[in-house]
Amino acid sequence: MSPGLDTARTVREDQQISDSPRAIERTRALNGQPQRVPSADVHIPDYPRATQVDLGEILPDSFQGESTEIDVPRQFTFEPDHWSAALLSGLDAADLDGMRVGEVGVGAGTNSIFILGSKNPASVTVADYLPELAPLAIHNMGKMLRPDQYEGKVFAYEGQQDLASFASPGEFDVVVACVPQMVRPEGLELEGADFAHYYDPDQYQSRLNDSGLGLNDVLLQQLSACLDVGGRAIINLAGRPGKDVLMNQLFRENGLEPRILHERVIPHHNGTSVSHMATIEAATDGGRQFEFFEDPAGEIPMNASTAERRRLDGEPVFHKIYVIEGKKV
Ligand SMILES: C[S@@+](CC[C@H](N)C(=O)[O-])C[C@H]1O[C@@H](n2cnc3c(N)ncnc32)[C@H](O)[C@@H]1O
Repeated sequence: MSPGLDTARTVREDQQISDSPRAIERTRALNGQPQRVPSADVHIPDYPRATQVDLGEILPDSFQGESTEIDVPRQFTFEPDHWSAALLSGLDAADLDGMRVGEVGVGAGTNSIFILGSKNPASVTVADYLPELAPLAIHNMGKMLRPDQYEGKVFAYEGQQDLASFASPGEFDVVVACVPQMVRPEGLELEGADFAHYYDPDQYQSRLNDSGLGLNDVLLQQLSACLDVGGRAIINLAGRPGKDVLMNQLFRENGLEPRILHERVIPHHNGTSVSHMATIEAATDGGRQFEFFEDPAGEIPMNASTAERRRLDGEPVFHKIYVIEGKKV
């Protein structure tokens, strides 16, 4: 399932938060500031209804771990998918050796585990909006990595961490994120795994909420304020708003010079409506166009209105994913 995006569901499956290990919902705070905790001190609960997922198909060859299997409790997060494969390819192309890496919205830990198992970073620090997920990522590190690949270099911000609000100036050389790019459907109260797919635009002031980029916009505002010059943000993004919006409005206007690390075309999930994008196109009389494709090679473009018609007719629809690295200037 994607970063909220294509495979996002409005109907919840298997979502019983009652067994959520809320005991871990504690943010260690000193003077109101969240504290970075070494992984050895993080309480890792049982995840009794987790599904075992084999990442072998999507892990780049450079990964040198002990196993390719993670635990995914679907009530809290999604199973890695096309989006995850794209981001891993982008991370494979990034220079992360010796870097202090932070991951915002770590989920089950796939990206941080890959970085630890192939890049030799100086440290990796994980956090997520759902308090269950930083401990889950650390649990999965223990499954997939050799102790020498993670011991002493993994840290967590426990509890509920909204985007990069925990990060202090100069703390990270690189911050990685793949966070939702679909606004909350009307009437859906977000909980559990919904946060892997949707965000509430009322909580994030951004001129890019119409494009589903509000959460990423606020994230890049925060990172622009806390990265040193030359520090980098690596983000996985749907190409639907168009490359120009991503490069200029999202990255450059937030003070980060972008370059594309990886791009690919993926199928749009047929169950997810793009009618809100079609509505924006109609309201601007075609002045604002979203980017979809008829074909898996991404050679025949179409707008959201056409994509929505094809989707409703059961015809395939595709869109691009870009992994973009923005360098603080
Ligand atoms: C699509 S999942 C991606 C998980 C992981 N980064 C990956 O690529 O496998 C999005 C993640 O972002 C988290 N998230 C959603 N809203 C967030 C926010 N405001 N701050 C931090 N994390 C958030 C979700 O809980 C979820 O773990």
